[in-house]
Amino acid sequence: MRRSLVAGNWKMNGSVAMTDDLLTGLKKGVARSMPDVDVVVCPPFLYIPRAVQMLAGSTIKVGAQNLDIHEPGAYTGEIAAEMIKEQHCGYVIVGHSERRALYGESSDLVAQKAKVAVAAELKPIICVGETLEERERGDTGRVVREQLMCVLDLNGVEIFPFAIIAYEPVWAIGTGRSASPDQAQEVHALIRESIAELNPNVADHTRLLYGGSVKPDNAQAIFSSPDIDGGLIGGAALVASDFLAICKSMER
Ligand code: 13P
Repeated sequence: MRRSLVAGNWKMNGSVAMTDDLLTGLKKGVARSMPDVDVVVCPPFLYIPRAVQMLAGSTIKVGAQNLDIHEPGAYTGEIAAEMIKEQHCGYVIVGHSERRALYGESSDLVAQKAKVAVAAELKPIICVGETLEERERGDTGRVVREQLMCVLDLNGVEIFPFAIIAYEPVWAIGTGRSASPDQAQEVHALIRESIAELNPNVADHTRLLYGGSVKPDNAQAIFSSPDIDGGLIGGAALVASDFLAICKSMER
């Protein structure tokens, strides 16, 4: 049985006050219930130490949104895996579509980031997903498989089930237009089959998340699909009651 996982990607949002407010609310809500769901928050780097401190004694885990592939050294503005690990983070998002589109991250770089994360014992949440244009051209399967294959070619299937995949169709991110449960399930099944071609047992244990306009009112429908093990949540992760409701709908 795969454990459910819901991760909140705060993106470049927040402040010290907002971190305090949001985490106070989440800590209370998760303490009351949610034994079957791994709940993770991924604030901007600057708020990670505060988040870790605030969540001491809670089951909520903290993750980062990105990492650099190099060892510490002359890489101005970057953050190394071991620095993230030192802050007691357990997870790191890699290859988010915003990083691919706005900061030119290639699938090869994403695969390297996943490798560096695992070496530092950080669980990478590896994002894949097609643009609207690619979907309309009928290229969804090919694009997602190519993104996944880059990770598998460099890391081998052994990177799973430690690593996690998040399928995030680019056209569903921040648009209020989520994939339908059928659309999401179809791609999740394809991802699981692609891993199963290499190792069925590993595929069975690998957690696949859906991301893209998940809200309290559509979470249950999306999460009830057999190959969807949780969510990567953007906007709704910034509101404690919304994020808690989404986590709650993941309880099996
Ligand atoms: P939204 O939930 O705001 O659509 O963002 C999804 C996302 O990009 C999470 O990584």
